[in-house]
Amino acid sequence: MNTLNGQVAIVTGGAMGIGAEIAAELARQGAKVAITDISPDKAKAIISKIQEEGGTAAAYFHDVTNAESSLSMASEVEASLGPISVLVNNAGVSKRVPVLDMDEYEWDRVMDINLKGTFFTIKAVLPFMLERAYGRIINMSSVVGKKGYPEFSHYCASKFAVLGLSQSLAIELAKTGVTVNSVCPGIVMTPLHDQIVAEMAEAQGISFQAALSNFLSNVPQGRAQTPADIARVVTFLAAKESGSMTGGSYHVDGGMVMS
Ligand SMILES: NC(=O)c1ccc[n+]([C@@H]2O[C@H](COP(=O)([O-])OP(=O)(O)OC[C@H]3O[C@@H](n4cnc5c(N)ncnc54)[C@H](O)[C@@H]3O)[C@@H](O)[C@H]2O)c1
Repeated sequence: MNTLNGQVAIVTGGAMGIGAEIAAELARQGAKVAITDISPDKAKAIISKIQEEGGTAAAYFHDVTNAESSLSMASEVEASLGPISVLVNNAGVSKRVPVLDMDEYEWDRVMDINLKGTFFTIKAVLPFMLERAYGRIINMSSVVGKKGYPEFSHYCASKFAVLGLSQSLAIELAKTGVTVNSVCPGIVMTPLHDQIVAEMAEAQGISFQAALSNFLSNVPQGRAQTPADIARVVTFLAAKESGSMTGGSYHVDGGMVMS
């Protein structure tokens, strides 16, 4: 069943990692996908894959930390692909930094991309959705948007804040036809997560494999999640049929967080 036939979906930070798989899954469901990224060239591989599968996708330059960049991206997508109905705020960064080593630059970098970037992108895209009284906004939080994690205080704070933003907007927009939900992945082996495991390994003087085993020991299922696991839930929330779901946060984490 192609639940998103002909709809236009934006995936921020979609050139690689979880975002690339979300783009592919939205395209499989019939959406025309705008992959937006600070490195749109890196989207070539996922765009070829989508096209080989018979889908439609295009890449757009977008720096989520820049309000003007979000505004021009939204206008460009509307003009080239058509009316935007799905927005997935996926762009995000993380880094292991103990709090006393964290400078203002690092704090602001993570907050600006993960939180302010989500706000800027919603602000740019929402007017188009409101014009047509229809939209699906899905924001990427994390298991650590629900539960603190040592040496990632800025990242956790940004992901908790994404949930606060999402819940507030879900209520503010409840009668407009636009829903706002969040997805909370657990451990997904992507370039971002590989870098975090490598940082933990270096800090503890252990191997990459030992640091990964330590991470996975927190997961009741004992294994990592795949980008496809996350993409399935995002695509479900993006469907017209999910219109009664708003303000929720959905864990895809092998049982790490249960409430
Ligand atoms: N990988 C995990 O284990 C995990 C767990 C929980 C949540 N998440 C969240 O899922 C999302 C995707 O993570 P991932 O692991 O695929 O990361 P990734 O590093 O593999 O991909 C992130 C993408 O965001 C893009 N990006 C970075 N800064 C940007 C900016 N200023 N503007 C636009 N794009 C920008 C990058 O170019 C990249 O394509 C993030 O929000 C992350 O916090 C990931």
